[in-house]
Amino acid sequence: MVIDSKQLKTLFLDFFTENEHSLIPNSPLIPEYDPTVLFTPAGMHPLIPYFLGQPHPLGTKLVNVQRCFRTGDIECVGDSSHLTFFEMLGNWSLGDYFKKQAISLSYDFLTNKRWLNLDKKRLSVTVFAGDQDAPKDLESFEAWSSCGIPDDRIYFLSKEDNWWGPVGNTGPCGPCTEMFYDTGKPACGPNCRPGCSCGKYFELWNDVFMEYNKTPSGCFEFLKQKNVDTGMGVEHTAAMLEGKENVFQIGAVRPIAQKVEDLASITVPDDVQERSIRIITDHVRAATFFLGDERGVKPSNNDRGYVLRRLIRRAIRFGRLIGIEQDFLTDLADIVITLNEADYPLLREKQASIFEELNKEETKFKRTLEKGLRKFQRIAENCPRIDGKDAFLLFQSFGFPIELTKELAAEAGVEVDVTGFNNEYACHQKVSAKSATKLFKGGLSDASAETKKLHTATHLLNEALRVVLKKKDIVQRGSNITPERLRFDFNFDRALTPEEIVAVEKLVNDQIKNALPVVREEMSVQDAKTKGAQGVFDDKYGNSVSVYSVGGFSKEICGGPHVENTSELGVFKIKKQKGIASGVRRIRAVLQKCDQ
Ligand code: SER
Repeated sequence: MVIDSKQLKTLFLDFFTENEHSLIPNSPLIPEYDPTVLFTPAGMHPLIPYFLGQPHPLGTKLVNVQRCFRTGDIECVGDSSHLTFFEMLGNWSLGDYFKKQAISLSYDFLTNKRWLNLDKKRLSVTVFAGDQDAPKDLESFEAWSSCGIPDDRIYFLSKEDNWWGPVGNTGPCGPCTEMFYDTGKPACGPNCRPGCSCGKYFELWNDVFMEYNKTPSGCFEFLKQKNVDTGMGVEHTAAMLEGKENVFQIGAVRPIAQKVEDLASITVPDDVQERSIRIITDHVRAATFFLGDERGVKPSNNDRGYVLRRLIRRAIRFGRLIGIEQDFLTDLADIVITLNEADYPLLREKQASIFEELNKEETKFKRTLEKGLRKFQRIAENCPRIDGKDAFLLFQSFGFPIELTKELAAEAGVEVDVTGFNNEYACHQKVSAKSATKLFKGGLSDASAETKKLHTATHLLNEALRVVLKKKDIVQRGSNITPERLRFDFNFDRALTPEEIVAVEKLVNDQIKNALPVVREEMSVQDAKTKGAQGVFDDKYGNSVSVYSVGGFSKEICGGPHVENTSELGVFKIKKQKGIASGVRRIRAVLQKCDQ
């Protein structure tokens, strides 16, 4: 029986739950409470506080499947294995079992007939060889031996191969052991061994033994507890299990690539076309997940929005390269949604806004792409180095992310003065800083007094909807606040009646009249939960979250800012309501000085 990615996920979760692991949620791609990373890069990332000793509400043995995104891999996409967006399976021990049991669980899952049933004889492993920071990992060696892996298939490798983390410069880290499957292909030479990139050894799984904490001074000290962090790439392992040459051939990805081929009327792609097809497939897949995330991102020139823009524009450029004339992003996004909606129903719910954003970006970029490419050619023809001013002109007037200019330059054999570009960019930022607004989490466009008032009103509205509509599970699906109005999206499957609108307005205005104090407290996620705070309870939160209470009326996990007392708000008035996706409503409301 061929195991595909869907079955692989089910088997993995079943195996570990049978082995007393608790299933934890697949956290959003966009971490809300970790400003140090733009996207969730690994299944372990949301768990860092727990590796450091914070008790996890679901216990010491955990398992999940986690959607991940790695920006560092964008340039590599196009080969047989790299994806920017992927799913990762992981099991974790938080100070519970360690090397011996982790290895025996891994071995059982890989080789047992009930699970992956892989051929034991084709399995080889690597373990940490030891250095000045940490000793040779004989414990893992022994554990593999006792599973029956012969010595000549256990390789001792250095830190470069068998050490993981820390994610930043400091934090939990440790030696790892990796598992490889022999594909049966001939060795590329006498030094071919697991880890070699020739394709003979297929990397299956990585068990990290987090026993150290790297301190700011660069020392490795023992953590309070010894943890296990494992990671298995879903698409990657599915490729092996489905007997496919690469991740773009698996059932969960191939239909997207097929559509690209159809749109470009390509039947047998050559190598250059194949690379373009893969890039488009990966990038549109990632972009769809970005836009459809719980904390969806929109294309922009900042941070996450910029990464999204880069992905979309790169996909458009490669689409043009293989001759796709028409708009194509939403056709592909539709397939991405169809392939993933069973596990990620929010993608379908947000389909309308995903399509809208993709269409907008496609229209915008296509308007300038041709002219920009001609401009690029003229510049590149005349000198071997694109200076900062020209790179900035391509960015500002033609919408070319600097990475795109670099890529075009590399293809044309010319250089780009990236430092010069950065200087131009910084200069420009300074000039426009006066009008620039600071981005706050939770959809605030600035921190003006008016915006703060509307933000507090949003909390009141959120609670009032739950009360008036008598539906406790109403949650925020999106929020966008400007100094003029608030916009609030929530799950509800019909329009509010005029009476309900009046009742919601009245309930909010009553709280304003009650002059309730707005109080911010730091507390643990567990406490926030116990105290009934609203908000997404990911198991990724750090030691504490910030919770805003409006009198005894509302309590929400939120980054602020808010007014100090509801008496500052004015009169709350709902201006518009509409459905924006199936089961999702949007309300626009304002605060007026008096009842007009
Ligand atoms: N953190 C390790 C990885 O990403 C194992 O989960 O590979």
